[in-house]
Amino acid sequence: MLTPADLHDLCDAAEAAIIDGGGFGWLSPPPRQTLEAFWRGVLLIPERELFVSRLDGVIAGSCQIHRPPRNNEAQGFACSLTTSFVAPWARGHGLARRLVEIAEAYARDEGFRLLNLDVRETQRAAIRLYETLGFTRFGEHPHYAFVNDRYVTGYFYFKELAPLADGAGPA
Ligand SMILES: CC(C)(COP(=O)(O)OP(=O)(O)OC[C@H]1O[C@@H](n2cnc3c(N)ncnc32)[C@H](O)[C@@H]1OP(=O)(O)O)[C@@H](O)C(=O)NCCC(=O)NCCS
Repeated sequence: MLTPADLHDLCDAAEAAIIDGGGFGWLSPPPRQTLEAFWRGVLLIPERELFVSRLDGVIAGSCQIHRPPRNNEAQGFACSLTTSFVAPWARGHGLARRLVEIAEAYARDEGFRLLNLDVRETQRAAIRLYETLGFTRFGEHPHYAFVNDRYVTGYFYFKELAPLADGAGPA
């Protein structure tokens, strides 16, 4: 649950990150009502788990774990890390690293074997963070995002949370 003050702080942090250019899809901040509805919606969707980080008690960033749809048995072993950001005023304190570590531990505890994520090639800090945390880049999409009338390449990563006991790879 988010208190009204938490929701307010989460919206402020998200707005600041969007304006700074790292807004998990948004290129300009939506109206406050839309942003509030977005976060309330996240809490209602069973396939999403929201994690927030605080600096001096104030929510300064967040990320989510998305579970696969229940019908997707073949890919039920993998979940995704998404919508990861820290407000510009709170960066450089290790919040994002801790957020990812906690989300990753949660995914492992929930029995997931693999964590996927994707990121724009322009998000240099995030790329460095994920690579130092042991994520493997396995692909690029040249038309991943469209920003300022230009395509932006996207990088796709995975991390094995629970390698198979016999070390087996793809069949
Ligand atoms: C990426 C982001 C979440 C990092 O937040 P943060 O709280 O400042 O990160 P941390 O302080 O935990 O730093 C963790 C690591 O990120 C990397 N990093 C952080 N800032 C960096 C920078 N300016 N340049 C290069 N690497 C950087 C480093 O590897 C750092 O580890 P180190 O301190 O041991 O060197 C933040 O910059 C952000 O919100 N960016 C815009 C949104 C975004 O890119 N989200 C990811 C989309 S998937």
